[in-house]
Amino acid sequence: MTVPGTNLEGKSIEHPRTIKSFVVRSGRMTPGQEKAYEELWAHYGVEADKQLIDFTQLFNRQAPVIVEIGFGMGDSLLKMAQNHPENNYLGIEVHKPGVGRLLANISERSLDNLKLMKFDAVEVLKNQIADNSLTAVYLFFPDPWHKTRHQKRRIVQDDFIQLIRKKLAPHGQFHMATDWEHYAKQMLKTMQQAPGFINCAADNNYIPRPEHRPITKFERRGARLGHGVWDILFKKTA
Ligand SMILES: C[S@@+](CC[C@H](N)C(=O)[O-])C[C@H]1O[C@@H](n2cnc3c(N)ncnc32)[C@H](O)[C@@H]1O
Repeated sequence: MTVPGTNLEGKSIEHPRTIKSFVVRSGRMTPGQEKAYEELWAHYGVEADKQLIDFTQLFNRQAPVIVEIGFGMGDSLLKMAQNHPENNYLGIEVHKPGVGRLLANISERSLDNLKLMKFDAVEVLKNQIADNSLTAVYLFFPDPWHKTRHQKRRIVQDDFIQLIRKKLAPHGQFHMATDWEHYAKQMLKTMQQAPGFINCAADNNYIPRPEHRPITKFERRGARLGHGVWDILFKKTA
């Protein structure tokens, strides 16, 4: 018999190991990013805890909510929020310098439709996002984890996709892009087999980059290395 909270040898397990899709990079914050963090987090940041986020209160209005997971340095998320003032955006990233940089840029442009979280997006979705509440989830150029032994870290897995499905509103969209062909194939296959989603591409394949998705920093780097780009767009069935 196993006792909850202990392993077979009876040793206590405080934190069951879960595989993360990221390793927190040690990248230094620039003085500007540090300053942005200190001065702007209170206004544009959302704390990670176990409280459901009340989006109407957070943005002070009711509007479609779009979540971007892993926005990196945030330039493309900033553009989307600027180009689509009719939407509310929540960006989730674990890389602190990226969060600092985006905070400064949001404030410079006085955007009030973009808020940020610095935490594991999987935990945020599980604990803080209400079911059936999101108009779209964006996952642009997630860490590809090239090596076979690291591929278990790829964020796109069956349970992650079902978590996204739970949080999307009926007909809500899940948009992914990658510059790594092996990952693109895995993403497409996983989505095609996932219950509760249909492909927005008429041929059940990839789509060309839609206008609403700006070219990202990571994508530009891939292009310099001669990589292709694959966009995948599915929507939740009602
Ligand atoms: C390859 S980068 C791409 C960044 C950006 N989307 C772009 O295209 O330039 C992937 C980003 O996802 C972030 N990330 C990975 N797993 C995450 C998670 N579970 N929650 C939040 N951010 C995550 C990493 O910190 C990293 O900045």
